[in-house]
Amino acid sequence: MNALILVGGYGTRLRPLTLTTPKPLINFCNKPILEHQIYHLANCGVQNIILAIAYKPSDITGFVKKLEQKYNVNIIFSIEEEPLGTGGPIKLAEHILNQYENFFVFNSDIICAFPLLEMMEFHKENNSTLTMLVKEVEDPRAFGVVITEDKKIIKFEEKPKNPKSSLINAGIYIFNKKILDYIPKEYCSLEKEIFPKVAEDKMLYFFKLTKFWADIGKPLDFLKGQALYLEDLNEKVEEKDEKAFSDRLLIRNSIVNEKDGIGTVTERSTSISDTNTNLSNIKNLFVSFKTLEELKTFDKDKDMFFKQLLIHTEIQGNVLISSKTIIKKNCVLGDNVVLGDNVIIGEGCRIKNSCVMNNSVISSYAYIENSIIGSKSRVGNWSRIEGMCVLGENVILKPELFVNNAIILPFKEVSNSIYDRGTII
Ligand code: GDD
Ligand code: MG
Repeated sequence: MNALILVGGYGTRLRPLTLTTPKPLINFCNKPILEHQIYHLANCGVQNIILAIAYKPSDITGFVKKLEQKYNVNIIFSIEEEPLGTGGPIKLAEHILNQYENFFVFNSDIICAFPLLEMMEFHKENNSTLTMLVKEVEDPRAFGVVITEDKKIIKFEEKPKNPKSSLINAGIYIFNKKILDYIPKEYCSLEKEIFPKVAEDKMLYFFKLTKFWADIGKPLDFLKGQALYLEDLNEKVEEKDEKAFSDRLLIRNSIVNEKDGIGTVTERSTSISDTNTNLSNIKNLFVSFKTLEELKTFDKDKDMFFKQLLIHTEIQGNVLISSKTIIKKNCVLGDNVVLGDNVIIGEGCRIKNSCVMNNSVISSYAYIENSIIGSKSRVGNWSRIEGMCVLGENVILKPELFVNNAIILPFKEVSNSIYDRGTII
């Protein structure tokens, strides 16, 4: 089977992160966004994955080669001379897509439980022409909104001002190749031109997602998605073996390969109780690995690793670190924190609802809340970063600064505090 991922263009809404890293390669929970999707597609038997892209960054080819080997799939670039919207790129790849009866189409900024096999079963059982994954949300105004009847969508409206339902388009579809006839060979929006028509023709089915879902295309949603992803990870481990709990200090449930893929295997450590240390506060510490070799190396010393880390680090809620993260004494981390490869967290730091990407250094006694710190950045001692800040790659923040709700572009060195909300420098 084939799949097409609508990768899009420059990723403007995830700036400044996308100024130095192509959007599909940005790490979400220590794994590139694209890799999450490819892992799930490969898992349900997809062999050819088309990346529909309005411009191809030169540094993406090497990464894609690695993914092809890791997941045993072919990845094909389909490059638009100028952006063709969400429909045009599908027509552009028609000659590949029409090889099979059905194919998947993904928005590239979606993270969810990916119920692809169930969706495929539903699509086939109902002899559906187009099956859309839908999700119930509190505020549907920023999405495509659907009105349903029985198994079908009878009305589709993109970002309506007064939504008449709370069910939205989750950005994952299975198309029968018949739909290719609906799409013109030019710029075209699936949401504005195609879905309303297919709904009218009574050929648009829906499959409702009950588990987690997020569009991570904007910084605030990126962090919300991170929280949902970590909570889902937690639930997966809980489901697997509740019986594993004993009176040992640390319980580790490895969910290698089975649930999270070869890409990032995740290990969770839970303390039961220990009155001599602050371990009783620990909820969930997950450790991610890039390769199985990395996992094997880690495995040899993991008892020591967890013991040393947890004795002087307080973990609140869900925290995911790379096996290559270094955390110094007396830090408090969580809820909802992700720390990448080779990240160094100095003594006494407090980090909550945030993500620190690969190779960044957070110096001692820094406070970071509701923020994304891009890779290779440095945050000075005693800094306070809060209110949805996004630091690009290679940013240097001098010590003792207060930064609130600011976007800091790559390679900037910041020497003064930023008090004005919404500052971009
Ligand atoms: N190749 C290509 N070319 N891709 C494109 C283009 C283009 O010209 N324009 C947009 N895309 C890609 C984006 O990169 C993204 O992966 C996907 O198409 C959807 O575009 P977004 O810009 O992210 O749309 P949205 O988030 O406002 O709304 C879409 O997603 C919602 C779910 O998150 C719609 O599909 C909504 O109906 C849906 O509810
Ligand atoms: Mg989006």
